[in-house]
Amino acid sequence: MKNEIVVSGIRSTGNLHLGNYFGAMQNYVKMQGHYECYFFVADYHSLTTHPDAKELKNNVYKVLAENIACGLDPEKVTLYAQSDIPEIPELYLMLNMLAYKGELEKTASFKEKARAQPDNINAGLLTYPTLMSADILIHKGKYVPVGKDQEQHLEMARNFAQRFNYRYGETFPEPIAFNFGTSLVKIQSLDGQGKMSKSENENATIYLNDSDELILKKIKKAKTDQGPTQPNSPMPDYIENLFLLMKLVSHEDKYLKYLNDYNQCNIRYGDMKNDLGNDMVQFIKPIREKTIELKQDETYIKSVLKIGQEKARTNASKTIQEARKKWV
Ligand code: TYM
Repeated sequence: MKNEIVVSGIRSTGNLHLGNYFGAMQNYVKMQGHYECYFFVADYHSLTTHPDAKELKNNVYKVLAENIACGLDPEKVTLYAQSDIPEIPELYLMLNMLAYKGELEKTASFKEKARAQPDNINAGLLTYPTLMSADILIHKGKYVPVGKDQEQHLEMARNFAQRFNYRYGETFPEPIAFNFGTSLVKIQSLDGQGKMSKSENENATIYLNDSDELILKKIKKAKTDQGPTQPNSPMPDYIENLFLLMKLVSHEDKYLKYLNDYNQCNIRYGDMKNDLGNDMVQFIKPIREKTIELKQDETYIKSVLKIGQEKARTNASKTIQEARKKWV
């Protein structure tokens, strides 16, 4: 496994939240040391929705600090900023010639973003999946640990890799979305309205830098209902989400107790939220504190980025040279 390549990225558009952690970061940490891992801050991708570049560099440092605070070891993985690797935009350009307007327009994330920002439907937004494919293929990535929302982008990356290989000769592997043999994770927001997100639904999203009080408050407010009236009823998605979060941060006995209560129709959501809130505080606190400590050491963060840039470019330049040669 050591020589199999793993690539993934996180945009620098705001604070990381539980969706980023359980959809992506948890897998990054499990994969480090077992695979050749490239993890990066997708700062160019951030510009498709957050064009103001003033905060961009600081946000890159912040996301990087959060990556390390979650357990990534810069000695074991290559950590870098996407904009520090000029080979990525070159491959992006090549892949754009293989991507069709119709398929790009049909992408769910494009349709969603175009609806959300009708005054800024830029070409970067349309070609978001080709840039993402370039991020992965530049390292010949095979496994891509991501949350469920990225599944369609990965399918497109496989298509672009296939088209390149077919037209110009075998060059790229076909990357797959990865989550240790289980299905990809989607963490819903606590009000039951869509997924947790960096810049929307902030009161119903738990961020890795939320204070203890805020975490408790948000979980207390999470959407619940009267509870089931029939034993073993299916769960509404907002209840399923609370159980998923409990499974992720609480002791298994606690999770099973509440699951049993639910199935027997005597669940007390107030108690469940209390327990979940306390366990969530314990889970987030060390990450938050470590992030604060790391953010104060900008010299260290910059040195991690510099070393990461060198390692990532060494690999990326081999791929781009190979891709260029396919044309002559
Ligand atoms: P971004 O920054 O939106 O999210 C980073 C990672 O967190 C996952 N995620 C979630 N997982 C479960 N539930 C949620 N509510 C949730 N919200 C976010 C995302 O699936 C992602 O894994 N396009 C990517 C960034 C990117 C990238 C790449 C990823 C750019 N190039 C190449 C992989 C490979 C994105 O928007 O991430």
